[in-house]
Amino acid sequence: MVESQSADTLETNQGPVGPFLRWAGGKRWLASELIDLIGDTPVRSYHEPFVGGGSIFFALNPNGPAHLSDLNSDLITAYIQVRDNPSAVAEFLAGYENTSECYYSTRAAIPKNDSQLAARFIFLNHTSFNGIFRVNLKGEYNVPFGNRRYLNIPDEPALNRASQRLQNVELRSLSFAKALDDVSEGDLAFLDPPYTVAHNNNGFVKYNQQLFSFEDQRRLAESIEEIKARGGKYILTNAAHKSIDDLFSPLGRKILVSRKSVIGGVKANRGRVDEYIFTNIGTE
Ligand SMILES: C[S@@+](CC[C@H](N)C(=O)[O-])C[C@H]1O[C@@H](n2cnc3c(N)ncnc32)[C@H](O)[C@@H]1O
Repeated sequence: MVESQSADTLETNQGPVGPFLRWAGGKRWLASELIDLIGDTPVRSYHEPFVGGGSIFFALNPNGPAHLSDLNSDLITAYIQVRDNPSAVAEFLAGYENTSECYYSTRAAIPKNDSQLAARFIFLNHTSFNGIFRVNLKGEYNVPFGNRRYLNIPDEPALNRASQRLQNVELRSLSFAKALDDVSEGDLAFLDPPYTVAHNNNGFVKYNQQLFSFEDQRRLAESIEEIKARGGKYILTNAAHKSIDDLFSPLGRKILVSRKSVIGGVKANRGRVDEYIFTNIGTE
């Protein structure tokens, strides 16, 4: 049910179909490992409740029904608009420039409709300092201008290809626990929550702690128990940390994976970082 293909982007006759956003914690680097892990496991329906930039959804290209969700409602509006109105999004996007003036005036402006909101979201995501989605207490996006020389903002053909891929995909803005209530027998859930526990001493820890607490990790473990009880499959990625190991090891087998780290962009922090995959694929 999951088509096997190369990891990064999917080459089709019209060009590559990949994520249209930069996303902190994106899992593009893990795609080929996950394709191998899933192998020929039958998948009735695919669920991804922490979809973020969607790198795994685009790489797996599930050919059955797919359900993507995220707590970030602007992100989901962007997906819905790319699915339903790619030309309108492209038209708004074409009106932006990669300058500090345009960045800050776009950031301050209130979008007049959802297509403009989606274009603004995509533009700010690509031209901001680090692509992280961060809002202040008033809910206003407050990431500074990135002054980035090389941009990969999707053009209209790229948005059209993403739109094609998203046809018949259910897109919802809601918390993972509610989304996972819908996973049933024969379904696969790919779970990539924000990491709560530090890999190294990088300033991310505090931020993630607010975003996704250890209590949330416990609730996620409960949702996984329920998925298993209903006969569903899951794949979870998480930090390689003892607290995470203790919580999720009883729920399936554990695979250790290692990736290059560039967190913070500081040389001292570059190196290899271990992460865990937990899954019940191949356990029964
Ligand atoms: C590590 S990112 C996922 C990255 C994605 N796998 C990719 O490759 O781009 C985690 C995502 O979880 C979302 N999130 C945080 N808390 C959530 C919650 N309680 N329920 C659902 N989504 C949540 C964040 O908005 C973020 O997009």
